[in-house]
Amino acid sequence: MNIDIFTLFPEWFEWFATQRHVANALASGSRLEFVNPRDHTPLSGGQVDDTPFGGGAGMVLRVDVLDSALRAHYGVDPVHLRDQRRVIALTPGGRLLDDALVDELVDEPALTLLCGRYEGFDERILEHFAGEVVSVGRYVLSGGELAAMVVCDAVLRKLPGALGHERSAAEESFSATLEGNPEYPHYTRPAEYRGWRVPDVLLSGHHAQIERWRRERSRERGAASGDGPEG
Ligand code: 6GU
Repeated sequence: MNIDIFTLFPEWFEWFATQRHVANALASGSRLEFVNPRDHTPLSGGQVDDTPFGGGAGMVLRVDVLDSALRAHYGVDPVHLRDQRRVIALTPGGRLLDDALVDELVDEPALTLLCGRYEGFDERILEHFAGEVVSVGRYVLSGGELAAMVVCDAVLRKLPGALGHERSAAEESFSATLEGNPEYPHYTRPAEYRGWRVPDVLLSGHHAQIERWRRERSRERGAASGDGPEG
């Protein structure tokens, strides 16, 4: 998996890239690359954004600056880029990231993530360069960087070898194995603490019963939270 991230703040990702599952993915052949539009701006003084036409607060990432950055990195007119790879702009109003979208992205050989800042992107970036817009929730972050890290984290941890235990990713919350439901509860030692006992079935050694108990708890949680497959 090759992920290119266009961001005005590449240094935000330095810590992220050192996290165990991310580092594992990178050691297994995945690649994270960062492009700072400021390094490619045709404008003087490193300018990358501008005030919105029509007035209003904040600054907007300029379309000419992103055109230059994309063109410099890929060597093609960026209007053709989205035919070659998934180009995703991170915006609060985009398609909500969920496990199904993560699975789609895991199957891609390469992704391009565009991080906006301040008030976001000039709309022409979304119209002509991005193939899709993705959001990590219905709230506003001060930029796309944290959202890009959420996307990378969710995608990279699903790659083979990223997690220590291969079953972990297949049988976790919202997976097809759990029918889209949240994960069942986990317990570890001690079996009793302050009178709080671990459910007997988990100590029983009956694998079929344990499996059934877990599926039932997972379904219950989906029904209770409204996060299950029925929404
Ligand atoms: Cl993708 N970007 C920003 N700026 N805020 C967000 C978001 C993205 N997703 C949720 N809030």
